[in-house]
Amino acid sequence: MDLVSIDWTNISADAIGTEHGITEERLQALRSPSRVALAAVRSRAEDDLRFQTLPAGGAWHDRLLAYAEEQKGRFENIVVLGIGGSALGNRALHTAMHSPFHEMFGAHGLPRLFVLDNVDPDLVGEFLDRVDPSTCLFNVISKSGSTAETMSQFLIFRRALIERVGKEAHAEHIVVTTDANAGVLRPIVQEEGYASFDVPDGVGGRFSVLSAVGLLSSALIGIDTSGLLKGAADMDERCKTDELFENPALMLAGIQSCMQQEKNKPIAVTFAYGHRLRHLADWYAQLLAESIGKRLDRDGREVFAGPTPVRAVGVTDQHSQSQLYVEGPHDKWFTLLAIEHPDHHVSIPKEYGDRDALAYLGGRSLAELFEAEREGTRIALTEAQRPNLTISFPRVSEHTLGQYLYMMELAVAVMGEHYGVDAFDQPGVEAGKIAAYGLMGRKGFEQRRGEIEAARAACPPRRL
Ligand code: PA5
Repeated sequence: MDLVSIDWTNISADAIGTEHGITEERLQALRSPSRVALAAVRSRAEDDLRFQTLPAGGAWHDRLLAYAEEQKGRFENIVVLGIGGSALGNRALHTAMHSPFHEMFGAHGLPRLFVLDNVDPDLVGEFLDRVDPSTCLFNVISKSGSTAETMSQFLIFRRALIERVGKEAHAEHIVVTTDANAGVLRPIVQEEGYASFDVPDGVGGRFSVLSAVGLLSSALIGIDTSGLLKGAADMDERCKTDELFENPALMLAGIQSCMQQEKNKPIAVTFAYGHRLRHLADWYAQLLAESIGKRLDRDGREVFAGPTPVRAVGVTDQHSQSQLYVEGPHDKWFTLLAIEHPDHHVSIPKEYGDRDALAYLGGRSLAELFEAEREGTRIALTEAQRPNLTISFPRVSEHTLGQYLYMMELAVAVMGEHYGVDAFDQPGVEAGKIAAYGLMGRKGFEQRRGEIEAARAACPPRRL
């Protein structure tokens, strides 16, 4: 069985010194709070932290597979209308499992996937100009059913569909994933006769990738969702122990909190060595930032907590960011994502044997070069006393992806305990949403609009 593994050698004080590295004694001392933190998270598994129950699958997953099977061959394009936790996992799974050229050339008759997680008119308008809606199945995903971006896209594409295929047939082109009871989408589903799936109770947006939120679009484009759940379940099993040195999620959570709170490293860089893994870094950035970035702790004190996630892609960003990472301020720590066995073998031809700058490459493979570049980065970071760990995927598969996603979710939930913040709300995101409602004239938000106008009047714009 392919197991995702963590190499944390270069986090240790033995590798990078005591100023930036964590000592064995400190890790030993972390064992007890880690135990307490895990128990707190586990105790809520059937309550408000039900992301922990998703790996078990069940009737919802069977129904999702049956629906995906029925749609086979019907649509050229699957279009996700969602944002944040209702989009990032969908894209990450797609780009990890499918060719980077999937949308251009298609793959074995599978539909393309477009994740339209923006309301930039140049994105949505271009899509409207170029893509015939009758070739699309639109998966509208919104837990709250009130996010302005997703709802406006729903209105736009519903209208485009009705104009193209008629009122009756348009319903065949929309499938909604939303709360089982709350929100405006649920009654619309009933009225219009749309197919629908639930965002389960007790599963927050950014923790929902392994529910119908992430798995429906995945199943529709041929990803083995049972494999994803199996991977998550296997990781769940590994993370049952409350022993820090055996539980990968506990170790990741402990290291993150030490890095920020004790080693003064507020920036957490995910360096994805694998083009296929680049959007996992985006997915994790949201999970980390929205969960831990909080003004208040759980006792209501102002703490302004939270790491700043940064995403980088190896080797591309070696030639743009590594200079800063190796020689800039000591305010970052690094998680490298590595793939041990890529799917493709590409050999470098032996040419120009008499030219030293090229001769050493001939006869080697791109996998060897890629690995040497990754190792080179690891070595450079370590020698410059920059804490770094490596999460290795033996192969990129549904099984290893499921392990990674679940491990990071559990790690962030545990981190919330270490930081003393509520990792499951997002008042900062809501603040932006509410301001936008006010500006757009949504009923009930008149007061907010007035406040914004008053603030603007008190501080007129300064422009050049
Ligand atoms: O993690 C979260 O809760 C957020 O990022 C949401 O996923 C995002 O704001 C979209 O919300 P909704 O699914 O309610 O439209």
